[in-house]
Amino acid sequence: MSQSGLFDSPRYNSLDEVLNVIRGLKDDPLANAGTNIVISRGNPKAKLLLIGEAPGPQENIKGKPFVGPAGQLLDKILQAAEFDPETDIYITNSVFRMPPGDDGKSFRKPNDKEIEFYRPFVFEIVRLIDPLVILLTGNVACQSVLQKTGITTLRGKWTELDGRWLMPIFHPSYLLRNQSREPGSPKSLMWEDIREVRRKYDELNK
Ligand code: URA
Repeated sequence: MSQSGLFDSPRYNSLDEVLNVIRGLKDDPLANAGTNIVISRGNPKAKLLLIGEAPGPQENIKGKPFVGPAGQLLDKILQAAEFDPETDIYITNSVFRMPPGDDGKSFRKPNDKEIEFYRPFVFEIVRLIDPLVILLTGNVACQSVLQKTGITTLRGKWTELDGRWLMPIFHPSYLLRNQSREPGSPKSLMWEDIREVRRKYDELNK
């Protein structure tokens, strides 16, 4: 796929329209999974957009992304860089239903088919929110938007697409599994990345 014009092929006239279409999906690859549609939270006028992986069990129950343990850590990371999670950011995912695990109870990572199915909706959300800065948390978001993975190499590096600045960052769940704060640890790299995001955001909003 060409890397230009990625977010500028209109299919819907408004954010409400695309959100309603997603809410009404019956033919998506996870429609038979028995899990709920979970799309977004935050301020639709925000200039910062974050794209995660897929809802987990808490998100599936509450109907909003990043409201479980990973979401609580995400809010703390944003607040550490003086972003207000209610007003400064809009948060969505690459996949809009929790993919159930093999036992039907737990959950698993989304597969390629699922990521591809939801991708055009993710791009429409980007176009209609019209952010200046986009954070891609973890490999699934990188696969959805950049069509590449390798978060340890991609993280912390800016890509400019259609006048927007995209940065892959570690997924907060990964930080929950790696608690060290030593130099070079995932937590310390995340701190470097979010400070750089703050710098770029301030520069673009001058
Ligand atoms: N992890 C994600 O990527 N998204 C959520 O909404 C929750 C956990």
